[in-house]
Amino acid sequence: MTMAEPRPLTAGPAAAARPVYQIERLSKTYARNRLTALTDVHLTLHKGEFVSVVGSSGCGKSTLLKIMSGLLPPTTGRVVLEGKPVTGPRDDIGMMFQQATLLPWKTTLQNIILPIEIRQGRAAARAAIPRANELLRLVGLGDFAHVYPAELSGGMAQRASICRMLISNPAVLLLDEPFSALDELTRDFMNMELQRICAEQRATAFLVTHSLAEAVILSDRILVMKPRPGRIVEEIVIDLPRPRTLEMINTPRFGEIVAHIRDLLGKEAFQ
Ligand SMILES: Nc1ncnc2c1ncn2[C@@H]1O[C@H](COP(=O)(O)OP(=O)(O)O)[C@@H](O)[C@H]1O
Ligand SMILES: [Mg+2]
Repeated sequence: MTMAEPRPLTAGPAAAARPVYQIERLSKTYARNRLTALTDVHLTLHKGEFVSVVGSSGCGKSTLLKIMSGLLPPTTGRVVLEGKPVTGPRDDIGMMFQQATLLPWKTTLQNIILPIEIRQGRAAARAAIPRANELLRLVGLGDFAHVYPAELSGGMAQRASICRMLISNPAVLLLDEPFSALDELTRDFMNMELQRICAEQRATAFLVTHSLAEAVILSDRILVMKPRPGRIVEEIVIDLPRPRTLEMINTPRFGEIVAHIRDLLGKEAFQ
């Protein structure tokens, strides 16, 4: 199948865009257990591109994301974002995890402006309120600004955490299984929301997911990882037209791509 051949980057629409993230010769060995979680990872993300990583549990996906975000130092190699080496947490990196992690004693709006308050103080957080309200409308939470997290559904809480991620206008979005705790219908909806938001913001996104369907529907490229030691074994360019729709899941092409990735990962990966 031609998909197995990584295509030259000039083939995709994102290829014309400039590089945003550059990762070279990355490896990570955890000192505690001498475990090589990642080896020889090379990766370039272009402006506006959506790239996903799939692979079995323990193959180093979260380790890669943590190093990219500056939360964890690599053992070798380097990570450069917008021309500057990543050496610690940065304002131009937005992150989202499996749990929404909203503070229960703050309203939706207060949660969204919290990163600004922490970094730049109360006055800056107040000044960010109109932008926070705009983001809430963007994700369909316009009427929920003054509600506490306990009154939000799981999907609504995740949408609020998308707003919290976007409030600092990050250059890249790093997403570690952000929707895996949601039911399937909500997850489909969130995937379409994420696609729309990324298109509107021209965001560059990097998604870790267990769901092959989610990776295929959202991505321009999918990186397939294998464990022991964690490494990228293949890159697959997803040539489905944009915007993607949920109906595409039922097309033969979609099925072919999913089957190809499943083959690569081997049976053990998704049991
Ligand atoms: N802080 C840590 N110390 C030691 N080993 C770790 C640590 N974090 C992760 N690991 C190990 O590194 C490997 C990769 O983990 P991780 O990046 O979380 O994988 P994934 O996100 O793909 O499930 C696993 O074998 C895991 O047990
Ligand atoms: Mg993980």
